[in-house]
Amino acid sequence: MKKAIVIGASSGIGRAVAKVLGQDGYEVGLVARRIELLRQLQQEIPAQTYIKQIDVSKHEAAMVLLKELIQEMGGLDLIVINSGINTHNINLDWKPEIKTIDVNVSGFVAMINVAVKHFLAQNSGHIVGISSIAGLRGSGACSSYNASKAFVSNYLEGLRHRFRRNNIYVTDICPGFVETAMTKGEPGQFWVASAQGAAKQILTAIEKKEKVAYITRRWGIIAWLLKILPDWIYRLRYKIVKIEN
Ligand SMILES: NC(=O)c1ccc[n+]([C@@H]2O[C@H](COP(=O)([O-])OP(=O)(O)OC[C@H]3O[C@@H](n4cnc5c(N)ncnc54)[C@H](OP(=O)(O)O)[C@@H]3O)[C@@H](O)[C@H]2O)c1
Repeated sequence: MKKAIVIGASSGIGRAVAKVLGQDGYEVGLVARRIELLRQLQQEIPAQTYIKQIDVSKHEAAMVLLKELIQEMGGLDLIVINSGINTHNINLDWKPEIKTIDVNVSGFVAMINVAVKHFLAQNSGHIVGISSIAGLRGSGACSSYNASKAFVSNYLEGLRHRFRRNNIYVTDICPGFVETAMTKGEPGQFWVASAQGAAKQILTAIEKKEKVAYITRRWGIIAWLLKILPDWIYRLRYKIVKIEN
Protein backbone atom coordinates (compact mmCIF):
# COMPACT_ATOMS: atom_id res chain seq x y z
CA MET A 1 0.00 0.00 0.00
CA LYS A 2 1.26 3.50 -0.86
CA LYS A 3 2.25 5.77 2.01
CA ALA A 4 1.78 9.55 2.14
CA ILE A 5 2.48 12.22 4.73
CA VAL A 6 0.61 15.53 4.83
CA ILE A 7 2.37 18.31 6.72
CA GLY A 8 -0.27 20.74 7.97
CA ALA A 9 -3.14 18.25 8.00
CA SER A 10 -5.15 19.69 10.89
CA SER A 11 -7.31 22.12 8.90
CA GLY A 12 -8.21 23.59 5.53
CA ILE A 13 -6.56 22.31 2.38
CA GLY A 14 -4.21 19.87 4.14
CA ARG A 15 -7.06 18.24 6.04
CA ALA A 16 -9.06 17.80 2.83
CA VAL A 17 -6.01 16.43 0.97
CA ALA A 18 -5.36 13.90 3.75
CA LYS A 19 -8.95 12.71 3.44
CA VAL A 20 -8.86 12.26 -0.35
CA LEU A 21 -5.54 10.44 -0.10
CA GLY A 22 -7.05 8.09 2.51
CA GLN A 23 -10.06 7.50 0.27
CA ASP A 24 -7.69 6.83 -2.63
CA GLY A 25 -6.06 3.95 -0.76
CA TYR A 26 -3.01 5.63 0.78
CA GLU A 27 -1.88 5.04 4.33
CA VAL A 28 -1.63 8.61 5.62
CA GLY A 29 0.69 10.27 8.14
CA LEU A 30 -0.97 13.37 9.60
CA VAL A 31 1.26 16.16 10.85
CA ALA A 32 0.50 19.51 12.54
CA ARG A 33 0.74 21.21 15.93
CA ARG A 34 -2.95 20.81 16.90
CA ILE A 35 -2.88 17.13 17.80
CA GLU A 36 -6.56 17.01 18.89
CA LEU A 37 -7.64 18.00 15.38
CA LEU A 38 -5.43 15.27 13.95
CA ARG A 39 -7.05 12.73 16.29
CA GLN A 40 -10.50 13.83 15.09
CA LEU A 41 -9.37 13.58 11.47
CA GLN A 42 -8.12 10.04 12.06
CA GLN A 43 -11.74 9.02 12.80
CA GLU A 44 -12.84 10.34 9.41
CA ILE A 45 -10.26 8.51 7.30
CA PRO A 46 -11.09 4.89 6.48
CA ALA A 47 -7.45 3.95 5.78
CA GLN A 48 -4.57 3.31 8.20
CA THR A 49 -3.39 6.63 9.62
CA TYR A 50 -0.52 7.82 11.82
CA ILE A 51 -0.27 11.13 13.64
CA LYS A 52 2.67 13.22 14.75
CA GLN A 53 2.67 16.57 16.50
CA ILE A 54 5.28 18.65 14.72
CA ASP A 55 5.95 22.37 14.72
CA VAL A 56 7.81 22.94 11.46
CA SER A 57 9.18 26.25 12.74
CA LYS A 58 11.31 24.29 15.26
CA HIS A 59 13.33 23.13 12.31
CA GLU A 60 15.77 20.58 13.66
CA ALA A 61 13.36 19.01 16.14
CA ALA A 62 10.78 18.84 13.32
CA MET A 63 13.24 16.98 11.11
CA VAL A 64 13.91 14.38 13.81
CA LEU A 65 10.16 13.87 14.34
CA LEU A 66 9.46 13.52 10.63
CA LYS A 67 12.18 10.85 10.34
CA GLU A 68 10.53 9.04 13.27
CA LEU A 69 7.15 9.19 11.55
CA ILE A 70 8.56 7.75 8.31
CA GLN A 71 10.04 4.90 10.32
CA GLU A 72 6.77 4.28 12.18
CA MET A 73 4.95 4.15 8.84
CA GLY A 74 7.49 1.74 7.41
CA GLY A 75 8.33 4.00 4.45
CA LEU A 76 7.13 6.92 2.38
CA ASP A 77 6.10 7.39 -1.25
CA LEU A 78 4.56 10.86 -1.20
CA ILE A 79 4.92 13.97 0.94
CA VAL A 80 2.57 16.94 0.71
CA ILE A 81 4.06 20.00 2.40
CA ASN A 82 1.07 22.21 2.99
CA SER A 83 1.83 23.93 6.32
CA GLY A 84 1.75 27.68 5.95
CA ILE A 85 0.74 30.92 7.63
CA ASN A 86 -0.11 34.42 6.47
CA THR A 87 0.39 37.03 9.19
CA HIS A 88 -0.98 39.93 7.06
CA ASN A 89 1.81 41.99 8.54
CA ILE A 90 1.25 45.32 6.82
CA ASN A 91 3.36 47.15 9.43
CA LEU A 92 6.30 44.84 8.73
CA ASP A 93 6.84 44.10 12.42
CA TRP A 94 9.83 41.81 12.85
CA LYS A 95 8.20 38.96 14.81
CA PRO A 96 5.44 38.17 12.31
CA GLU A 97 7.90 38.56 9.43
CA ILE A 98 10.37 36.05 10.85
CA LYS A 99 7.53 33.73 11.88
CA THR A 100 6.29 33.62 8.30
CA ILE A 101 9.77 32.80 7.07
CA ASP A 102 10.32 30.20 9.82
CA VAL A 103 7.15 28.30 8.85
CA ASN A 104 6.72 28.91 5.12
CA VAL A 105 10.37 28.91 4.07
CA SER A 106 12.73 27.27 6.60
CA GLY A 107 10.06 24.86 7.88
CA PHE A 108 9.21 23.92 4.31
CA VAL A 109 12.87 23.25 3.44
CA ALA A 110 13.38 21.26 6.66
CA MET A 111 10.51 18.91 5.74
CA ILE A 112 11.70 18.59 2.12
CA ASN A 113 15.20 17.81 3.31
CA VAL A 114 14.13 14.76 5.31
CA ALA A 115 11.86 13.50 2.51
CA VAL A 116 14.55 13.99 -0.14
CA LYS A 117 17.12 11.92 1.75
CA HIS A 118 14.58 9.15 2.09
CA PHE A 119 13.53 9.30 -1.57
CA LEU A 120 17.13 9.39 -2.83
CA ALA A 121 17.96 6.30 -0.79
CA GLN A 122 15.06 4.36 -2.34
CA ASN A 123 15.39 6.03 -5.76
CA SER A 124 11.72 7.00 -5.92
CA GLY A 125 9.24 9.40 -4.42
CA HIS A 126 6.97 12.34 -4.98
CA ILE A 127 7.29 15.78 -3.36
CA VAL A 128 4.28 18.07 -3.45
CA GLY A 129 4.52 21.63 -2.16
CA ILE A 130 1.60 23.97 -1.67
CA SER A 131 2.72 27.39 -2.82
CA SER A 132 0.22 29.95 -4.11
CA ILE A 133 -0.76 32.20 -6.97
CA ALA A 134 0.39 34.88 -4.50
CA GLY A 135 3.97 33.78 -5.14
CA LEU A 136 3.83 35.19 -8.66
CA ARG A 137 3.90 38.86 -7.60
CA GLY A 138 4.80 40.97 -4.60
CA SER A 139 2.18 42.32 -2.22
CA GLY A 140 2.24 45.53 -0.21
CA ALA A 141 -0.32 44.02 2.17
CA CYS A 142 1.57 40.81 3.01
CA SER A 143 5.06 41.05 1.56
CA SER A 144 6.62 38.17 3.47
CA TYR A 145 3.77 35.79 2.62
CA ASN A 146 3.97 36.40 -1.12
CA ALA A 147 7.77 36.26 -1.05
CA SER A 148 7.68 33.00 0.91
CA LYS A 149 5.44 31.44 -1.72
CA ALA A 150 7.75 32.66 -4.50
CA PHE A 151 10.52 30.82 -2.63
CA VAL A 152 8.44 27.64 -2.46
CA SER A 153 7.70 27.60 -6.21
CA ASN A 154 11.26 28.46 -7.16
CA TYR A 155 12.71 25.84 -4.78
CA LEU A 156 10.41 23.16 -6.15
CA GLU A 157 11.42 23.99 -9.72
CA GLY A 158 15.06 23.62 -8.69
CA LEU A 159 14.37 20.22 -7.09
CA ARG A 160 12.57 19.09 -10.25
CA HIS A 161 15.70 19.81 -12.28
CA ARG A 162 17.98 18.30 -9.66
CA PHE A 163 16.05 15.02 -9.45
CA ARG A 164 15.07 14.53 -13.07
CA ARG A 165 17.16 11.34 -13.24
CA ASN A 166 16.29 10.01 -9.78
CA ASN A 167 12.70 8.91 -10.31
CA ILE A 168 11.62 11.61 -7.85
CA TYR A 169 8.68 13.71 -8.99
CA VAL A 170 8.06 17.28 -7.85
CA THR A 171 4.69 19.02 -8.06
CA ASP A 172 4.07 22.69 -7.31
CA ILE A 173 0.45 23.32 -6.32
CA CYS A 174 -0.61 26.95 -6.78
CA PRO A 175 -4.06 27.61 -5.33
CA GLY A 176 -6.00 30.78 -5.97
CA PHE A 177 -8.59 31.40 -3.24
CA VAL A 178 -9.72 28.45 -1.15
CA GLU A 179 -12.29 28.76 1.63
CA THR A 180 -10.30 28.07 4.81
CA ALA A 181 -9.43 29.72 8.13
CA MET A 182 -6.57 31.49 6.38
CA THR A 183 -8.77 33.38 3.94
CA LYS A 184 -11.77 34.01 6.19
CA GLY A 185 -12.87 37.64 5.90
CA GLU A 186 -10.20 38.53 3.35
CA PRO A 187 -11.46 41.22 0.96
CA GLY A 188 -11.58 40.94 -2.83
CA GLN A 189 -11.94 37.15 -3.11
CA PHE A 190 -13.32 35.55 -6.26
CA TRP A 191 -13.41 32.07 -7.83
CA VAL A 192 -13.25 30.70 -4.28
CA ALA A 193 -12.97 26.90 -4.15
CA SER A 194 -14.04 24.70 -1.27
CA ALA A 195 -11.22 22.84 0.47
CA GLN A 196 -12.76 19.55 -0.72
CA GLY A 197 -12.94 20.76 -4.33
CA ALA A 198 -9.33 21.93 -4.15
CA ALA A 199 -8.21 18.61 -2.64
CA LYS A 200 -9.81 16.61 -5.45
CA GLN A 201 -7.94 18.66 -8.05
CA ILE A 202 -4.72 18.33 -6.03
CA LEU A 203 -5.16 14.54 -6.04
CA THR A 204 -5.56 14.57 -9.83
CA ALA A 205 -2.38 16.65 -10.16
CA ILE A 206 -0.56 14.13 -7.93
CA GLU A 207 -1.82 11.17 -9.94
CA LYS A 208 -0.76 12.82 -13.20
CA LYS A 209 2.58 13.82 -11.66
CA GLU A 210 2.03 17.36 -12.91
CA LYS A 211 4.87 19.85 -12.59
CA VAL A 212 2.70 22.85 -11.73
CA ALA A 213 -1.03 22.80 -11.05
CA TYR A 214 -3.28 25.83 -10.58
CA ILE A 215 -6.16 25.18 -8.21
CA THR A 216 -8.78 25.53 -9.45
CA ARG A 217 -7.78 25.11 -13.07
CA ARG A 218 -9.06 28.47 -14.23
CA TRP A 219 -6.55 30.17 -11.93
CA GLY A 220 -4.10 29.29 -14.68
CA ILE A 221 -5.54 32.27 -16.58
CA ILE A 222 -4.88 34.58 -13.63
CA ALA A 223 -1.38 33.16 -13.30
CA TRP A 224 -0.70 33.92 -16.94
CA LEU A 225 -2.06 37.46 -16.51
CA LEU A 226 -0.02 38.06 -13.36
CA LYS A 227 3.14 37.04 -15.19
CA ILE A 228 2.63 39.51 -18.05
CA LEU A 229 0.89 42.41 -16.31
CA PRO A 230 2.97 45.60 -16.13
CA ASP A 231 3.50 46.97 -12.63
CA TRP A 232 1.31 50.05 -13.12
CA ILE A 233 -1.71 47.89 -13.98
CA TYR A 234 -0.98 45.33 -11.24
CA ARG A 235 -0.98 48.12 -8.64
CA LEU A 236 -4.51 49.21 -9.66
CA ARG A 237 -5.93 46.23 -7.78
CA TYR A 238 -5.38 48.04 -4.50
CA LYS A 239 -7.90 50.65 -5.70
CA ILE A 240 -10.30 48.22 -7.37
CA VAL A 241 -10.75 45.79 -4.46
CA LYS A 242 -9.77 48.27 -1.72
CA ILE A 243 -6.99 46.05 -0.36
CA GLU A 244 -5.24 47.76 2.51
CA ASN A 245 -1.80 48.93 1.42
N1 LIG B 1 -6.65 29.22 1.49
C1 LIG B 1 -6.18 29.75 0.38
O1 LIG B 1 -6.87 30.51 -0.35
C2 LIG B 1 -4.77 29.47 -0.03
C3 LIG B 1 -4.37 29.95 -1.28
C4 LIG B 1 -3.08 29.67 -1.70
C5 LIG B 1 -2.24 28.93 -0.92
N2 LIG B 1 -2.65 28.48 0.30
C6 LIG B 1 -1.71 27.68 1.08
O2 LIG B 1 -2.32 26.48 1.45
C7 LIG B 1 -1.72 25.99 2.65
C8 LIG B 1 -2.82 25.59 3.62
O3 LIG B 1 -3.52 26.75 4.02
P1 LIG B 1 -5.06 26.77 4.40
O4 LIG B 1 -5.69 27.83 3.60
O5 LIG B 1 -5.61 25.40 4.36
O6 LIG B 1 -4.97 27.33 5.90
P2 LIG B 1 -5.21 26.70 7.33
O7 LIG B 1 -6.54 26.07 7.42
O8 LIG B 1 -4.84 27.77 8.28
O9 LIG B 1 -4.13 25.51 7.40
C9 LIG B 1 -2.78 25.71 7.69
C10 LIG B 1 -2.18 24.39 8.09
O10 LIG B 1 -0.78 24.62 8.32
C11 LIG B 1 -0.44 24.09 9.59
N3 LIG B 1 0.65 24.84 10.22
C12 LIG B 1 0.75 26.18 10.39
N4 LIG B 1 1.86 26.46 11.09
C13 LIG B 1 2.46 25.28 11.35
C14 LIG B 1 3.64 24.91 12.06
N5 LIG B 1 4.42 25.83 12.65
N6 LIG B 1 3.97 23.61 12.13
C15 LIG B 1 3.19 22.66 11.56
N7 LIG B 1 2.07 22.95 10.88
C16 LIG B 1 1.71 24.24 10.80
C17 LIG B 1 -1.71 24.21 10.42
O11 LIG B 1 -1.68 23.26 11.48
P3 LIG B 1 -1.50 23.63 13.03
O12 LIG B 1 -1.95 25.05 13.23
O13 LIG B 1 -2.36 22.63 13.74
O14 LIG B 1 -0.05 23.44 13.30
C18 LIG B 1 -2.77 23.86 9.39
O15 LIG B 1 -2.92 22.46 9.33
C19 LIG B 1 -0.81 27.11 3.16
O16 LIG B 1 0.52 26.83 2.82
C20 LIG B 1 -1.31 28.33 2.40
O17 LIG B 1 -0.31 29.29 2.25
C21 LIG B 1 -3.90 28.72 0.76
